Amino acid sequence: MENFVYLIHDHASNTAAIVDPAWEVGEMLDFADSKDIQITDILLTHSHHDHINGLQQTLEHSDAKIHLLKPEATFWGASLNQPALHHGGDQIKLGESQINILHTPGHTPGSACYHVGSDLIAGDTLFVFGCGRCDLAGGDPEEMFNTLKKMKTELPSSTVLHPGHNYAPQSPTSTLETQCEGNPFLHFDEQADFVKYRMHVHDKIRETPYEAVSKEEALRALK
Ligand SMILES: [Fe+2]
Repeated sequence: MENFVYLIHDHASNTAAIVDPAWEVGEMLDFADSKDIQITDILLTHSHHDHINGLQQTLEHSDAKIHLLKPEATFWGASLNQPALHHGGDQIKLGESQINILHTPGHTPGSACYHVGSDLIAGDTLFVFGCGRCDLAGGDPEEMFNTLKKMKTELPSSTVLHPGHNYAPQSPTSTLETQCEGNPFLHFDEQADFVKYRMHVHDKIRETPYEAVSKEEALRALK
């Protein structure tokens, strides 16, 4: 699955938030232990199994608080122990660091991105030269179009993207500027074109790792 698990470390307090605890999360927990870093928060980008299958293990390891968006909790329906249910625009304080939460529906109704300084942890909303599927339960390609358009216009182009899966051809991270140049999902001005490409074209013509695609190539692929 090539999932990423992230640790956001506040150096001043030596506390951390773990994002999408899954798979070999034990290695991350051991790493935190080895540095005496206390994991105080668990941030979920969304509720898909491949992003949360280490949640229980993480909760057994620490008393961390779970954070997710309210619409994702409703969509998921899991019984969680006193989670913090957020709305887009909320902030989480981690020691002296501030984490801003973006509501980015499209892959799931309550998908979230976490913005820390110039870094964006994007879950399955935006990948390096790709974006999350919209054909699974709760997916909505029209919402995804609006989400990506908003990200493109509202986030600084120097923002560093940290996706939920490694589908990149080289470096696993990228800048928003590079994505605006080569991510086909950021090339479409018309919602209908985006929806057609996401739902009917993309999976037939592209495989991982995803290479950059020019705007002309993306538009030509629709014909
Ligand atoms: Fe997902």
